[in-house]
Amino acid sequence: MITINRELCIGCGLCVNDCFANDIELSDGTARPKGRFCMECGHCLAICPQNAITLEGFPSSDIIDVDDDDRADPDKLLRLMKTRRTVRSFTDEKVSSQDLQKILDMGVYSPKGGNIQNVSYVVIEENLSHVRKLAIESLYRISDLSEEQKKIPNMIRYAEKWKKMYENLNIPGAPDLLFFDAPLVIVVFSPSNINACIAAAHMESMVYALGLGMVYSGFTTRAVNASLALKEFLAVEESAAAQASLIIGHPAVRYQRSVPKKKPKITYR
Ligand SMILES: Cc1cc2nc3c(=O)[nH]c(=O)nc-3n(C[C@H](O)[C@H](O)[C@H](O)COP(=O)(O)O)c2cc1C
Repeated sequence: MITINRELCIGCGLCVNDCFANDIELSDGTARPKGRFCMECGHCLAICPQNAITLEGFPSSDIIDVDDDDRADPDKLLRLMKTRRTVRSFTDEKVSSQDLQKILDMGVYSPKGGNIQNVSYVVIEENLSHVRKLAIESLYRISDLSEEQKKIPNMIRYAEKWKKMYENLNIPGAPDLLFFDAPLVIVVFSPSNINACIAAAHMESMVYALGLGMVYSGFTTRAVNASLALKEFLAVEESAAAQASLIIGHPAVRYQRSVPKKKPKITYR
């Protein structure tokens, strides 16, 4: 819910016009919440020239003023995306807590459908080897494919990989084919696939902006969703849906150039 300070409000109507939920009206020359349905999106707070609006129950300490310099350089942004590569080889260096916070903030500040804040994050740093073991055991349990599953593209190859990972578990020094010895894993949970994936994609942009590297691990996501033991260890509900897993660290490889992409199908009408 919002509160409007009527002493500060000058009745300009900007908040009324910008309220997607149509939940603010002008009355006696100042804005007033109708109180029927507030999405708590904060557009009114953001647009108010008088800073007269507060969102109840939200911390105001992290509100920042908009600056024209906030825009990212479009050419640099595109270059970053073109030259970003999935990284599967990491140094031993840990991801700093400041960098981790920036990555998480990118998820927190990403848009959510209906502004429902239904995305949560599990950060794994301390217990990586235990989580890896539980995840690989989970993948092993689902590696015997049904005839239907075998028809899904890549599934046979994936199942072979999961069996190999399981074999490697008991071989000291065997390569880590799941987390690639990265120092940080973040699993993104949400009942909404799109909300979680937007959050994950924004987090990815920060990973590369920080000079870090990552791999989206569909295997980890699948392993979490197939294992109650893993969900219990990650302290999430049995029904929680993992939607994306980010394996993050300092790259131990340096790519020299971007790679081409096939011509996409884009239709203009
Ligand atoms: C949704 C998704 C799931 C992925 N899962 C895995 C995975 O489990 N293991 C892995 O090594 N790479 C995984 N990848 C990385 C892709 O293989 C990689 O993005 C693709 O080969 C293209 O390489 P690039 O990211 O360097 O352009 C995944 C990527 C995406 C987008």
